[in-house]
Amino acid sequence: MKTSEIRREFLAFFEENGHNRAPSSSLVPGNDPSLLFTNAGMVQFKDIFLGLEDLGFSRATTSQRCVRAGGKHNDLDNVGYTARHHTFFEMLGNFSFGEYFKREAIEFAWILLTERFALAPEKLWITVFEDDTEAADIWLQHIGVDPNRLSRCGEKDNFWMMGDTGPCGPCSEIFYDHGPEIAGGPPGTAEEDGDRYVEIWNLVFMQYERDVTGKLTPIPKPSVDTGMGLERMAAVLQGVHNNYDIDLFRGLIDAIRQVVPATDPEITSLRVLADHIRSCAFLIMDGVTPSNEGRGYVLRRIIRRALRHGNKLGTIEPFFYRLVGALEDQMGEAIP
Ligand code: ALA
Repeated sequence: MKTSEIRREFLAFFEENGHNRAPSSSLVPGNDPSLLFTNAGMVQFKDIFLGLEDLGFSRATTSQRCVRAGGKHNDLDNVGYTARHHTFFEMLGNFSFGEYFKREAIEFAWILLTERFALAPEKLWITVFEDDTEAADIWLQHIGVDPNRLSRCGEKDNFWMMGDTGPCGPCSEIFYDHGPEIAGGPPGTAEEDGDRYVEIWNLVFMQYERDVTGKLTPIPKPSVDTGMGLERMAAVLQGVHNNYDIDLFRGLIDAIRQVVPATDPEITSLRVLADHIRSCAFLIMDGVTPSNEGRGYVLRRIIRRALRHGNKLGTIEPFFYRLVGALEDQMGEAIP
């Protein structure tokens, strides 16, 4: 399945199940000075979760462009060195604004993964927040997940917050097992940081608003916010173990290789370049320009990191022109 087909299938599945397809919002959050960049699908819906705004519908689905560089969710230093981190990525999501809650969110996720995308249940691993017996019971009793593939984790892993303040709640994550030939252990173990078990979908049960002092106040109606990494899902469905081997990245990496025939040890720099060119292009498209502070400074850091890796490979100037061409082809497809 091509990445564009996965995006289409996800959105169609939730539309068939009564969700309103909403466009991706800008990478620069319009409603939130506390946030550097849109880092999740729920950002554009923050005020709806808090009961401050009503969109006139209670279910939504999106493919949201996200940047995780700078701020609370910052993956910049991992990019190029792991199989699964990006500064720019797309997050597929379904949202319930005070309508369905844990049971339906879990059912939707399981049906999409095991029926529509035909993943074998024994390749999936579930985590829940340690205090959330309700979610654990739904997975174990109602869905019938093997208790040997369910972990109960603490706040660090299974309580999701968009930033220091805002809507938050316990979450349940779904991991895909890429197989014993890849290093790494199941979530909740000392080896979890490897690339064998990769989180593909996070189901957040929004229940609270966190204030600056850390106090949690219940939001008006319990809600659902989910996020699936499109590039990670594409790796799973395309049978590759590294996100940079999916169709979306192959075009970019091939374009770089045409200019600088990199050797295998240099693959990290190729991946850094392919990733960073995407975040730079999308940030600039959304109005961010390089500067010495705030968002512009993060963009500048990304450009500098890309240049450093470009220099390691040798030449960078002709390479930029080719990449811009490859990127333009991709952007037509990537912007829903
Ligand atoms: N907002 C949740 C996340 O980003 C779904 O993981």
